Amino acid sequence: MAPKVLVTGGAGYIGSHACKALKAAGFEPVTFDNLCTGWREAVKFGPFEQGDLLDRARIDEVLALHQPVAVMHFAALSQVGESMREPGKYWRTNVGGSLNLIEATLAAGIRDFVFSSTCATYGDQDGVMLDETTAQAPINAYGASKRAIEDMLKDFGASDGLRSVIFRYFNVAGGDPEAEVGEFHQPETHLIPLILDAIEGKRGELTIFGTDYPTEDGTCIRDYVHVMDLVEAHVLGLKHLQADKVAPGVEVFCLGTGNGFSVREVINQSHHITNREVPYHEGPRRAGDAVKLVSGSEKARALLGWQPERSTMAQMVRDAWRWHQSGGYAR
Ligand code: UFG
Repeated sequence: MAPKVLVTGGAGYIGSHACKALKAAGFEPVTFDNLCTGWREAVKFGPFEQGDLLDRARIDEVLALHQPVAVMHFAALSQVGESMREPGKYWRTNVGGSLNLIEATLAAGIRDFVFSSTCATYGDQDGVMLDETTAQAPINAYGASKRAIEDMLKDFGASDGLRSVIFRYFNVAGGDPEAEVGEFHQPETHLIPLILDAIEGKRGELTIFGTDYPTEDGTCIRDYVHVMDLVEAHVLGLKHLQADKVAPGVEVFCLGTGNGFSVREVINQSHHITNREVPYHEGPRRAGDAVKLVSGSEKARALLGWQPERSTMAQMVRDAWRWHQSGGYAR
């Protein structure tokens, strides 16, 4: 029987791709999701258990039923702008929910934990190349909530022997090349799907958030990583844990490619790949945005053998476009 892995947020964008990768690697992913932003149709690679991380008894029940060997924790609220307007939601759901999950995990006798963190924990770092040792100084409640969870994992490592692999993602993009699952947020706030919507006239023009940043073309720079590469790192991280290569505590890995793309460059590449005009206009800055977030990810390459082969902008836009044209889960 395939060893089970509890995947919180398995009905979401990254979680659903992780389930596909876990299944391909010989695990059985058990999705735990409250469907507040996820999609039932995205759960295709293993059992589904509807539940909320704020409901500790439900987590205990699901862990007892499935007896997973490890937990992969993706479930979270993840919109930077919303987190600035409604920080309480972020502290309650992300931090409170994670605390329940960690305590339930330990109570079930599970010690291996993979956590989905973010480069938003770094804040604005003046454009330096970021790595695992860069000091974290989040500038929005979303990033602050993720950093707090990282701290909790460290503390539970010292107190209870929890072993965590923490991945700090840069900007995740693209989709399953077979389009079984893909990126589908309601509301959508991410750049590439919004560009594709604008191309198709689905929600009017794209707004570029700020053109007066201290970059070559005045727009923000991000490091985009293909979601299939990203979830592959999670499988490698899980195997790393299972091979006893992580001591109690946390092992942090940045997942980026080292290549930064400005908003204007992403628009130009999207135009090039889709062969369609991208209607856009220039607008003011968005609160909570850092100028530049880029990471080389040498540690993940060296320790996990991670190779982000699909993370070219062309491939990410191409895969996102294919999925986009299929209509997402609303089709
Ligand atoms: N952008 C626009 N117009 C838009 C949307 C985005 O110009 O309509 C710009 C943003 O200002 C930013 C870049 O495109 O410069 C990328 O923005 P995204 O919203 O796609 O992603 P973020 O860089 O804000 O990513 C952050 C964190 C991630 C996190 C994500 C969740 O860095 O870790 O928010 O929303 F997962």
